[in-house]
Amino acid sequence: MWGGRFSGGPADALARLSVSVQFDWRLAPYDIAGSRAHARVLAAAGLLDPDELGQMLAALDDLEAACASGEFRPTIDDEDVHTALERGLLERLGTLGGKLRAGRSRNDQVATDLRLYLRDHARGLAVALVELADALTEQAALNVNTAAPGMTHLQHAQPVTFGHWLLAHVQPLLRDLERLRDWDSRAAISPLGSGALAGSSLPLDPAAVAKELGFTAPAPNSMDAVADRDFVAEFLFVTALIGVHLSRLGEEVVLWTSTEFGWVELDDAFATGSSIMPQKKNADIAELARGKSGRLIGGLVTVLTMLKGLPLTYDRDMQEDKEPAFDAIETLGLLLPALAGMISTMTVRVDRLAAATPVGFSLATEVADWLVRRGVPFREAHEITGQLVALCSVRGCELEDLTDDDLKTVSGHLDPSVRNVLTVESALASRTTPGSTGPGPVADQLATVQHKLDSW
Ligand code: ARG
Repeated sequence: MWGGRFSGGPADALARLSVSVQFDWRLAPYDIAGSRAHARVLAAAGLLDPDELGQMLAALDDLEAACASGEFRPTIDDEDVHTALERGLLERLGTLGGKLRAGRSRNDQVATDLRLYLRDHARGLAVALVELADALTEQAALNVNTAAPGMTHLQHAQPVTFGHWLLAHVQPLLRDLERLRDWDSRAAISPLGSGALAGSSLPLDPAAVAKELGFTAPAPNSMDAVADRDFVAEFLFVTALIGVHLSRLGEEVVLWTSTEFGWVELDDAFATGSSIMPQKKNADIAELARGKSGRLIGGLVTVLTMLKGLPLTYDRDMQEDKEPAFDAIETLGLLLPALAGMISTMTVRVDRLAAATPVGFSLATEVADWLVRRGVPFREAHEITGQLVALCSVRGCELEDLTDDDLKTVSGHLDPSVRNVLTVESALASRTTPGSTGPGPVADQLATVQHKLDSW
């Protein structure tokens, strides 16, 4: 590629360190798309005659088919996807193939290819996210009235509906979908035409290239265009955050499927056994979701760290941007369908959830709110209810087991009608404000979520 100035080839150690074709070969179809657009621009500038353009486009089509079929493959002598494809073009066109490099550098090429690749794969990622969100939403629809012990600090807090809980895992995924869409609008800028860093002395047409490749505009600054990897870092932030969301869901599924909770039973096809303990049924998918969040977060840190000290413009360090991005896409490509299958086939143990819901004085807040409705300041209501809980703890009984006398002794504000609020059903039914856990607002939320998911 740069033979003219050099007296010999690179040392083996350099070649082995430098080579990236083993991973950047994924960019081949995008590189070819960029080459087609560049060839047309060279022809429009009079730098390829119509016959040469015809040959060039035919050779690119042929090369693309040969790449797709596996007939053309990179060899150990190809440094990266760009050099491999140039070899393929030279094999087909002879010296004419060498004309395509005019006005273009691997620096603007690689930035273009990676934007195209990520934009394309972000769409597949969004589809897989929607499928998981759909699976959660369908389970939520079945559990709009299913009581569950809502928790803070992993301690029983207040009754919720399990449908509300499942939708609380859908909401972050909806935000992730919006993040991907928003990211795409910033990633849709075309670096081609920036050359190595300074643009080109040839009469290129970056706007035409941008349009042909589906970008919204050419880059406004050629130096920024080849130095910018915000689109990679930002993409990796979104995938890292998706990883965190999947990890939190995974952690809950691990808890829910434990013997101690027993709220959910996984389908055999989405659970694993043990090689030694015949009784085991493990939630490995959920654990892998939790575990793989580490590599997704790591990818973001890798790229941010790689970028932070780089002088403008292109530096070879930037070759390290690709593996984390590819890994994030491949990791989520494996994880999301497995999670969607696990969620859609799981059985919710409504009876176990119902039994667990009132445990741990989760209705205490209902008593305090009852007192507030009777004009007692919440501070005092909290104190009174706390005394009831303390009395029950000593006696080893539940709030509804306290006698009329007990109630009167603790506070003159209490009377036997307080027992009306001491049921899970009344606690849930009283949650009627938008966004709260009552069956009414949850049904509304469900409809909104379903509508949003249908529109993706
Ligand atoms: N393979 C390189 C990368 O991925 C692109 C080549 C640019 N190399 C160069 N020496 N200017 O970043």
